[in-house]
Amino acid sequence: MTEHALPRHAAFPTSRLEDADGEGLNPTANRTMGEIITARFSRRDLLRGALATTAIAATLGPVALLSAGDAKAEGPASRFDFTEVEAGVDETHHVASGYDADVLLRWGDPLFADSSAFDPRNQTPEAQARQFGYNNDYVGFIPLNGSSEHGLLVVNHEYTNEHLMFPGIVSLSEKADEKNPEKKIPILAIKDADRTRVDIEMAAHGGTVVEIRKVEGKWQVVRDGALNRRITAGTEMELTGPAAGHLRLQTAADPSGRRVFGTINNCAGGVTPWGTYIMAEENIHGYFTGKLPEGHREAANYKRMGIPEGTYQWGRFHERFDVSKAPNEPNRFGWVVEVDVMDPNSVPKKRTALGRFKHEGAESIVSKDGRVVFYLGDDERFDYVYKFVTKDRFVEGDRAANMRLLDEGTLFVAKFGEDGTMEWLPLVQGQGKLTAENGFETQADVLIETRRAADLLGATPMDRPEDVEPNATNGRVYVMLTNNTRRKEEQVDAANPRAKNAFGHIIEIHEEGGDFAAAKGRWEVLLKCGDPSVAEVGATFSSETTKNGWFGMPDNCSVDTEGRLWVSTDGNSPKGTGRTDGLWAVETEGAARGTSKLFFRVPVGAEMCGPLLLPDMQTAFVAVQHPGDGGEDWEGFGRLSYYEDLSTRWPDFQPDMPTRPSVVAITRQGGGRIA
Ligand code: FEO
Ligand code: CA
Ligand code: CA
Ligand code: CA
Repeated sequence: MTEHALPRHAAFPTSRLEDADGEGLNPTANRTMGEIITARFSRRDLLRGALATTAIAATLGPVALLSAGDAKAEGPASRFDFTEVEAGVDETHHVASGYDADVLLRWGDPLFADSSAFDPRNQTPEAQARQFGYNNDYVGFIPLNGSSEHGLLVVNHEYTNEHLMFPGIVSLSEKADEKNPEKKIPILAIKDADRTRVDIEMAAHGGTVVEIRKVEGKWQVVRDGALNRRITAGTEMELTGPAAGHLRLQTAADPSGRRVFGTINNCAGGVTPWGTYIMAEENIHGYFTGKLPEGHREAANYKRMGIPEGTYQWGRFHERFDVSKAPNEPNRFGWVVEVDVMDPNSVPKKRTALGRFKHEGAESIVSKDGRVVFYLGDDERFDYVYKFVTKDRFVEGDRAANMRLLDEGTLFVAKFGEDGTMEWLPLVQGQGKLTAENGFETQADVLIETRRAADLLGATPMDRPEDVEPNATNGRVYVMLTNNTRRKEEQVDAANPRAKNAFGHIIEIHEEGGDFAAAKGRWEVLLKCGDPSVAEVGATFSSETTKNGWFGMPDNCSVDTEGRLWVSTDGNSPKGTGRTDGLWAVETEGAARGTSKLFFRVPVGAEMCGPLLLPDMQTAFVAVQHPGDGGEDWEGFGRLSYYEDLSTRWPDFQPDMPTRPSVVAITRQGGGRIA
């Protein structure tokens, strides 16, 4: 996806990094059932009609898809009533007609009265720490005084793209094509970082809490709002829960094993029912460098996480990111972080009870009996889907008690059966194979090495689990599985039904009895993604889906107040799918189930994050991440994109201003509910 001929260290291409390396990091062979399932799916999907397009395509070859204008009233209608955007690629964003998409917050925007104006040619760590960070990902809204027109926007800043952010650090060169030595591939070479650049990068990571208010139908940032806050890779945090203080979390700088600085690679996240902000730490491996001391006890643990990967050069200036000097430090990352946004000086908590892996997000819901359930994806090829169920119940209004909920509970990993049933397997020390003999002496060990514990329980290795989101209106849960081209034919199973899964799929879980805390459930594939007009792809969008409506690589999602699903993508491209990433509205109910429509699309090189539909359905917030990261396969540009020569200068389009990741507020022109 968004693959460039960039050196691996050139930027932190989360997607590139994930795609660039090997077979995934799961060494186990938990799985498989193959053909049984293919049969099961074709039968069920045909009955339901959701597979109509593919069924036709499979027998007759490619079919002509409806164009946006044709999609009228022929068959069952999707509940989404907007007119689709035309899929395609250009340098700007597009939203469905009748809607406004206004840029609300850009990288570098001041958040405080004393913030410096954004000056990308003279950026400093101090200025960046008082400005909106880079690569906005998760977007959440926490109302103030119950208002849907005034509240706190919480936004993760996942990673930094140096070649797009910093002037004067790129030189163009070329290398031989491995497959064809005659051919040369242009590459960007990036200067080694100095201390200032590293510190700017660290300040551009983390998250933002910012007060926003709707005035005459348009959202405004309240600069210097009393609760405004920047969290960075240097913010002091506390490790809490069963693994806090454990020997394996202690370092020379922190013998307590409880005090850690910073959060990194915060991808998706969540807002809890009690109004705290959750930041999930995802690709933490890229930040560590150095060589672990010979025979160190964490060697296997780190290998399973791909640590150290060394994309960033922070370890040259901050010893804690160098595993030769601070060998336990990586155990202090890869957690779910909870932030009390009502106190801008609160110390964010790394909640170890929710396990340590490449946390994509943490969306939550109150179950029937009041316990709170958090759904968690581990974004790696052949890794797992989890959920965490609190021990205690959520008590409306008892903030102090609710603030302790994430320290006690049970972490479960999903095992998907070939017959459409599933089990949530508890990751509890002493149960099953999670014993001292297997290296799990306490629950802390289980949590620190969650992946290995899940391996031993026989969890189902998935095609890169991303956002997992519960639907309060129908008791179901949607799981985004973005892609996994390394899955071989013999590794195909029910829940991962395609080998070389380039376009990903979406699974729908029905928790038993509609109870999110249930230990069992049923599941089915809601969508296999990709171009439904190409038979070999095997996509299963409904036949009402137009040529604009299909997508590949589902990543984040949101369920709106009416229980409808919105999916944002990561990895659509001019060459791969003939379209940029975007936000698609996916019907999950009735005869139109599987119908998808394009609502918003991003500029060239960008990925679509967020998304968030406010409860009053009058605003959709989306996050445009890494615009301009790519463009060599787009005819409108056709070369490598970097600071001095960008494929887009969205959103400012000023010659002296680089492209800026930004949060966009989408509202209906003249007001009213969306879609
Ligand atoms: Fe940050 Fe899984 O994408
Ligand atoms: Ca993403
Ligand atoms: Ca992704
Ligand atoms: Ca989400």
